[in-house]
Amino acid sequence: MPPLHERLMELAVSRGFLLPSAEIYNAPGGFYDYGPAGAALKRHIQEQWRRIFITEPGFLEIESCNVLPQAVLVASGHVEHFADPVTECTKCHQRYRADHLLEQKTLSSWAGLSPSDLNAGIKEHKLACSNCKGELGPIAWVNLMFPTYIGAGIENQAFLRPETAQGMFLDFKRLFVQQGSKLPLAVGQIGRSYRNEVSPRQGLIRSREFSQMELEYFFSPMQDKIEGFEKIENETVRVLPPTDGDAPLAVEDVSLRDAVSRGYFPNEILAYMVYLEDRLYRSLGITHGKYRFRVMPRDELPHYSKGNVDLEAETSYGFIETSGIAYRTDFDLSQHAKHSKQDLSVFVDEEKKRLIPHVVEPSMGVDRTLWCVLESAYRPAGNGKEWEWFAFPPRIAPFVAGVFPLMKKDGLDELAQNLTAVLRAAGLEVYYSQSGSIGKRYARADEIGVPYCITIDYETKEKAHEAGGPTVTIRYRDDGQQERVEISELAAKLLQLVKSDKVRKE
Ligand code: GAP
Repeated sequence: MPPLHERLMELAVSRGFLLPSAEIYNAPGGFYDYGPAGAALKRHIQEQWRRIFITEPGFLEIESCNVLPQAVLVASGHVEHFADPVTECTKCHQRYRADHLLEQKTLSSWAGLSPSDLNAGIKEHKLACSNCKGELGPIAWVNLMFPTYIGAGIENQAFLRPETAQGMFLDFKRLFVQQGSKLPLAVGQIGRSYRNEVSPRQGLIRSREFSQMELEYFFSPMQDKIEGFEKIENETVRVLPPTDGDAPLAVEDVSLRDAVSRGYFPNEILAYMVYLEDRLYRSLGITHGKYRFRVMPRDELPHYSKGNVDLEAETSYGFIETSGIAYRTDFDLSQHAKHSKQDLSVFVDEEKKRLIPHVVEPSMGVDRTLWCVLESAYRPAGNGKEWEWFAFPPRIAPFVAGVFPLMKKDGLDELAQNLTAVLRAAGLEVYYSQSGSIGKRYARADEIGVPYCITIDYETKEKAHEAGGPTVTIRYRDDGQQERVEISELAAKLLQLVKSDKVRKE
């Protein structure tokens, strides 16, 4: 049996979730296109994020540019520090990420170690080029950003953004004024980010172009409470606290309130963001026991951070960090104020003084999250189905329903097409299919996780003009059972089913 991620990647490509980008040119790895099923699934995941993160008053969504002038990324530290340690084969010049090579060999993390430690590790573990067995050269830092130029000359250096977050910092001052000059202010966006990974690997997990859903919560450091915390403080989340010395790591189910009072989370705001990420993962159907919030130990924190918590999901690749929440203090705004020579401080009424706001940033990867959704929803053949299928929650499935005429003749096809148009006009994402036997069409719907199939049969046609109105069948994905429903009630019924997550007849 191949590992689950190999099989899933095959299914994802063959069923139109993912397509290797520029495949006909044998293009370099690390780039994926989303096919029809994948693009819809991704869009629905993003809509869920929006529903959960951008609903509170004072939470705004923006869309900022992907190309950033060099000065921005000098200020943010990306030009100097956003680099990976790379070793090059002295014979065939193949390049490798040194920490990854050592990780594969020793099965332990080498992230963040100095070049001399990595050089020593390569020697100690006798690592050689996997291509030609040549000797590996000394570590060099390779910046991960994609460079470009603005305009005709080469003097205006720029980069594709390595994170969406910078847009929120750059737009902060104007948004603050537009929103009535009040803190707290939360600004988020969903968009593409670009990192020229030395060794992209594990499909969507480490790619060169990917999407992020990030939010910057700007607040006064003297007011590090968040409205509504008292309503959720007893919710529990799975936390992996930092350990003392060599004590083994142990996951705890802990309430948000206790996580703050024990010092796992630096304040209520970060705890609130953990709650929102947890809500999002639950709503996406990611098995609760399969992810945890790892509190970063103090010695791993960046110098400006007052606390970082990573959402780590258990996948067939092992535990993967799919999101992070960071208490970034005033680092980013202060850096931009210094480099742009603009005043980014604001006047805070409560304190009657000017200050640079602090920031808590929940940063979620769309693609890694989507991969977790695929893994969680995957079902092997069995239990009445001869095909592998996906059990997505109805609210994020690529389509709500497929609409099928039993036969593509006798006017059933026309009735089904009309019904498709009516359901679309009611705002439901449905598709029409008439090719293949009805059994095959049900199987194809299951294969991309469509929760309901609507079939127009001869009874629908015969009763088209009867009192009570014509009926159609709804087939439920998870148990394959069907029920008859009046067409006039169908749209409302589907909306209700989606809302209640019902995927079985009983
Ligand atoms: N603004 C903070 C930031 O960008 P990060 O940990 O570098 O933090 C946040 O990235 C999230 O973006 C990650 O948790 C991950 O889900 C996603 N991500 C980062 N690099 C990625 C890559 N090469 N491929 C796919 N997703 C990536």
